Amino acid sequence: MLTAGPAVLPSLLLCDFGHLHDEVERLQGAGARGLHLDVMDGRFVPQLTYGPVVVEAICRAACVPVDVHLMIEDPASTLDAYIAAGADLVTLHVEALADLQRPLEVLREAGVLGQLAISPGTPVAVLEPLLSGENRELCDGVLVMSVEPGFGGQAFLPAALEKLTALAAFRGHRSRPLRLGVDGGISTSTIGPAAAAGAELIVAGSAVLRSNDYAHAIRSLEQTARDGA
Ligand code: DX5
Ligand code: ZN
Repeated sequence: MLTAGPAVLPSLLLCDFGHLHDEVERLQGAGARGLHLDVMDGRFVPQLTYGPVVVEAICRAACVPVDVHLMIEDPASTLDAYIAAGADLVTLHVEALADLQRPLEVLREAGVLGQLAISPGTPVAVLEPLLSGENRELCDGVLVMSVEPGFGGQAFLPAALEKLTALAAFRGHRSRPLRLGVDGGISTSTIGPAAAAGAELIVAGSAVLRSNDYAHAIRSLEQTARDGA
């Protein structure tokens, strides 16, 4: 999924849901190399968005990889539905998992990439046993939240940069890549430092969806990320 180097994944959280198919085509036409879908259940986070049925419709419309960011309680119990919906990458919050390993095994067996997300209050240390243990290859990536999950349009929390730097140290001694991502408050001011700290899959919500020209927004973000990396 996706070539090396920083890629901007537009988040559809702030899209026009009345014209979902058009929005997917508009983003792809604007050069999006992947799409980021925010699934929220109104419990793990206050907002409620959509579930597997809508994810499946978006995956059907998409011709680029789709990252499904599950901000829900007990995501392990509904993983099969998102695999069946056609997700290319599933992002699971460690705060919502009793066991980090089994859900990643389920994804690997299904041929879907599995990424773990950490909220701002969660230290990188919770991932260390998995990332340095004998099953370290199970985790395809880590998404560092640079805002409290739940809403678009919040300000970037710079503490995410130190987490990315710390996680980059786990990239060695692996036969598969460990992709680092960042989500929240990404703009042309924050994407450079995030890419410099090691982020490759960079989620951008308002910076793309609140602009009138998606192509220009994606291009300038990716250019700034490349300059920063
Ligand atoms: C927030 C979501 C993000 C959100 C980012 O919980 O996970 O993906 O859409 O939006 P911006 O880029 O506006 O912070
Ligand atoms: Zn997200």
